[in-house]
Amino acid sequence: MDTSAMFNLTYGLFIAAVELNGRRNGCIINTAIQTTAEPCSMTVTMQKSNLTTEMILKKWSFTVSIISQTCPLELIKNFGLTSGRDADKFAGLDYATDRKGNPYFKKDMLSFMSLEVTSIIDLGTHYLFVCNVAEAEKLEAGKPMTYADYRTLKAGGSLEAAAPAPARKTYFCSVCHYVYDGDVPFEELPDDYLCPICGKPKSFFVTG
Ligand SMILES: Cc1cc2nc3c(=O)[nH]c(=O)nc-3n(C[C@H](O)[C@H](O)[C@H](O)COP(=O)(O)O)c2cc1C
Repeated sequence: MDTSAMFNLTYGLFIAAVELNGRRNGCIINTAIQTTAEPCSMTVTMQKSNLTTEMILKKWSFTVSIISQTCPLELIKNFGLTSGRDADKFAGLDYATDRKGNPYFKKDMLSFMSLEVTSIIDLGTHYLFVCNVAEAEKLEAGKPMTYADYRTLKAGGSLEAAAPAPARKTYFCSVCHYVYDGDVPFEELPDDYLCPICGKPKSFFVTG
């Protein structure tokens, strides 16, 4: 079996966060997925060794936030590479809470969901939390951060570079309706450009 075949799976990137007895903690996860629409449910796979996992096992509820591409890499590293056992990850950060007191960020997040654990499946190194979605809200507009985006940022790349070029305007001749489709952008054509069909000058072209 070639387990590198699994590298082609696509994932989103999320923060799972929980409050227990006045203590807030959270971690980065890539394993949140919607499982059913009616009722609205999700599953999340969490390492047993994470403090967040331990706290969820006691609270049976937590938030999952969908990270925006605008999220600073430092926040992702803070929540994904350090443990709440060593640092208070929420210290100094502005957060809101769901109805159960579980924290979530409103900035650099596209949506948050408040999950109630309905069953737990033991997977050896991990638990699979099967959850009912109790609350859900859209936060900022934007594009979701993917696991691949995170790897690009971590390697020093930028997401703008990976973004597709903006669509080019379509220009067509107002006389014969020939649609310009050359490699050179229409705006950069010389002033003496003529329509190849009816011979009208560049000024006869309009965009649509
Ligand atoms: C990109 C990325 C994806 C991750 N996905 C998961 C995941 O799906 N489940 C999980 O339990 N941990 C995941 N982690 C690891 C935890 O975020 C990490 O172990 C964290 O330090 C645990 O913090 P805690 O001990 O405060 O809970 C991921 C980390 C990164 C950087």
